[in-house]
Amino acid sequence: MSGHGPAIPMTARRSGPLKGTAKVPGDKSISHRSLILGALAVGETRISGLLEGQDVIDTAKAMRAFGAEVTDHGEGNWSVHGVGVGGFAEPEDVIDCGNSGTGVRLIMGVMATSPITATFTGDASLRSRPMGRVTDPLALFGAKAYGRSGGRLPMTVVGAAEPVPVRYVVPVPSAQVKSAVLLAGLNAPGQTVVIEKEATRDHTERMLAGFGAEITVDDSAEGRIITLTGQPELQSQTIAVPRDPSSAAFPVCAALIVEGSEVLVPNIGLNETRAGLFTTLREMGADLSFENERLEGGEPVADLRARFSPGLKGIEVPPERAPSMIDEYPILSVVAACAEGTTVMRGVKELRVKESDRIDAMARGLEACGVKVEEDEDTLIVHGLGQGGVPGGATAAARLDHRIAMSFLCLGMASQQPVSVDDGSPIATSFPIFEGLMTGLGAAVERN
Ligand code: S3P
Repeated sequence: MSGHGPAIPMTARRSGPLKGTAKVPGDKSISHRSLILGALAVGETRISGLLEGQDVIDTAKAMRAFGAEVTDHGEGNWSVHGVGVGGFAEPEDVIDCGNSGTGVRLIMGVMATSPITATFTGDASLRSRPMGRVTDPLALFGAKAYGRSGGRLPMTVVGAAEPVPVRYVVPVPSAQVKSAVLLAGLNAPGQTVVIEKEATRDHTERMLAGFGAEITVDDSAEGRIITLTGQPELQSQTIAVPRDPSSAAFPVCAALIVEGSEVLVPNIGLNETRAGLFTTLREMGADLSFENERLEGGEPVADLRARFSPGLKGIEVPPERAPSMIDEYPILSVVAACAEGTTVMRGVKELRVKESDRIDAMARGLEACGVKVEEDEDTLIVHGLGQGGVPGGATAAARLDHRIAMSFLCLGMASQQPVSVDDGSPIATSFPIFEGLMTGLGAAVERN
């Protein structure tokens, strides 16, 4: 579990051209859902390309604790023998979800409509994050939750013995909340309806349909109306997990800001609810091309080529785009620091409740590296210094947040003086091969 091992201080220095193919790991969102839906299906689900980051490993352990048979066949190939919808057993011990908000929130959703009790915890980052956004709607099904003040972990959830279906308007743009409600709805009789005003990543909806659930999505003036018919028999599937666009963002953005670079990321997921970063980078003048665009397992994928882009310009990112790139603002703010002019990121207050307060973490680290930033509760503004203009020469606090650590290491590859992070260990939650992959491309990144 991250945050419990020793800290790993790391440093990145101005790097020569980054060249080559970046085989980034499998998509984190799809990996969690493959294990969870596999555990709820009847028969054997086979998964290839699973992200073997700590977050997903913790979900695999949790699925075993609830009674599923989960087997690691090596090299990203896994299988899950499910227990069927409503078949979760009561775990014998506390479920430790490590650093993973997705893991804990989705699993709470699934077990909330079964007559079992489970206690959840996680690392210091996860224990500081709000769970009320999930336990509030789960209470409507009849579940009860007992946590620490502020709805924080550790928390015990008592599942509803006789769940009722719900109709829920999600108050924050959150795929985790939407997914928790849908997964709870699986074991409630009748139709559970979830309405989201802003579209968030839709892997849960796509995958539930793929596993054979009856689920419809209607766009209306109220928003996206998702209707799920409860108590289906989910059929086991064969799933090929695409590479994670949120992980691809790091070598792609590094290539844009490191002189002479050209990096190809094959087979990345380009679901439009995830691809906002690439639209934004193109608006800034990034040289990105998508090759071999195709559909795989119901998800759009392509090979993405990124080339050094010396003329990057700051832009105003449309706030309505935020849900489709919510995990990418830290690395975008690094690109913004290396662009000419100002990049304005509004409508991003969800960043304050991620693995860390990402507005504060990026603002403080960028300032330490000589970049001028402005912020308020819902906004981050970065005043770019242009290609090669960032002084660097500082150590940023990673705050148990993988994306903060990777972002500052990418900044160090393009700044005048090295940039360090106090602890690179959280990188293992989502991108365990980051260091080797980046050095393989030519990046000067090392453990101190
Ligand atoms: C995720 C949803 C997002 C994202 C997280 C993964 C998911 O969180 O930040 O990394 O897999 O559903 P929110 O739904 O809370 O925005």
